Amino acid sequence: MTREQRTQVAIIGAGPAGLILARLLALEGIHSIVIERRDRAYVEHRLRAGVLEQTTVDLLRAAGVGGRMDREGLVHEGLYLQFDGVRHRIDLRELTGGRAITVYGQHEVVKDLIAARLAAGDEIVFEASDVRLCDVDADLPAIRFKVDGKERTVHCDFVAGCDGFHGVCRPAIPPGALHTYERTYPFAWLGILAQTPPSLDELIYAHHERGFALHSMRSPQLTRLYVQCDPDDSLDAWPDARVWEELHLRLSTRDGWQLREGPVVEKSITQMRSFVVEPMQYGRLFLAGDAAHVVPPTGAKGLNLAAADVKVLAEALVDWYRSGRTALLDAYSATCLRRVWRVEHFSWWMTTMLHRAPGDDAFDHRLQLAQLRYVTGSRAASTSLAENYVGLEHV
Ligand code: FAD
Ligand code: DHB
Repeated sequence: MTREQRTQVAIIGAGPAGLILARLLALEGIHSIVIERRDRAYVEHRLRAGVLEQTTVDLLRAAGVGGRMDREGLVHEGLYLQFDGVRHRIDLRELTGGRAITVYGQHEVVKDLIAARLAAGDEIVFEASDVRLCDVDADLPAIRFKVDGKERTVHCDFVAGCDGFHGVCRPAIPPGALHTYERTYPFAWLGILAQTPPSLDELIYAHHERGFALHSMRSPQLTRLYVQCDPDDSLDAWPDARVWEELHLRLSTRDGWQLREGPVVEKSITQMRSFVVEPMQYGRLFLAGDAAHVVPPTGAKGLNLAAADVKVLAEALVDWYRSGRTALLDAYSATCLRRVWRVEHFSWWMTTMLHRAPGDDAFDHRLQLAQLRYVTGSRAASTSLAENYVGLEHV
């Protein structure tokens, strides 16, 4: 027998988008059920982004889930751009009138949101398989799925498609109703997590003729590092010794600074893509986060953009439930896409300024250096980078 349930908003996906949305709705008394394909341990340990914009920090605090982030997150008031072996600090706080970023792992945000939701007695269905969307263009959509081999159906007023780039929500929209805009990059990032204190207390984005490198961190004991690699590389091509060798080369400066090494506890390759679908809504289905758009990680924006989407969606749903007005829901896609395209541009710009593409010649290299010199030398250009990096205000 199929178990039937009724909710107001069915949320597909327990990533940052789905969990933040569920939290914002719960605070307004709106009932939701979160339906997730993976198990709890998997989503709580999936290592991904690490930089929270000021706007995301403010949103999580206002939602009452900022306690551990405030205690354990690392507030960064600046970052370094490195080129020609010299580091240049961008003073985020001074250039943006007091704003900063917080380094706090995405999986920690996810853990905090899951704990808060379960403590409030609200439901997350983990390990849901064969998730199907029905009647999203009608007044009462339904989500069908299986748990432990048993069929379940959730009837709802609205569906939030927060199931990431490879989810089922975007493909549930008739292809003729969507436009996609896409760019894949001819390089990828190999990322490691190393058990060693960070070698500097801020992030370093390094331009190098061998390719990009990034020094980041997760805690005072854990360093996160990335090197640009070939998109077709497998992890076998990157034994630890080769990763450290490239990191030393690409992050080295002429002042004797040393990169600290430590045991590598995680290693993975991330492909680089820009992707946007328009519109982000169809009938009663609203896409949010990576389900609707992807950015290359260079601007550290993916998670932050997901948070910005669901803030807009939560406000629109609250308005509908309070007043029956559809204006904010109707405007959802257009409202989000303004920020999405700004962030798409920033992420593309950071990516093309800092990476070496196959076939780039000395002319391309000099253009990048000219841009980097301008960005670090001109207050106007540094301010532009800084205000985008800490995050433009939510609308
Ligand atoms: P997701 O976090 O992808 O969450 C979607 C959820 O939906 C997942 O839990 C998934 O299991 C679930 N799901 C999928 N299909 C179904 C289904 N059929 N039914 C039910 N549930 C489903 N950004 C950065 O800024 N910096 C980084 O270093 C960085 N690294 C990344 C590394 C990787 C490997 C990836 C994939 C992304 C990375 N990102 C990074 C991007 C950032 O992590 C994402 O933008 C962010 O996770 C988006 O959140 P989301 O909630 O929209 O999607
Ligand atoms: C991290 C990831 C990013 O994509 C970025 O731009 C900066 C930091 C990180 O994982 O720490």
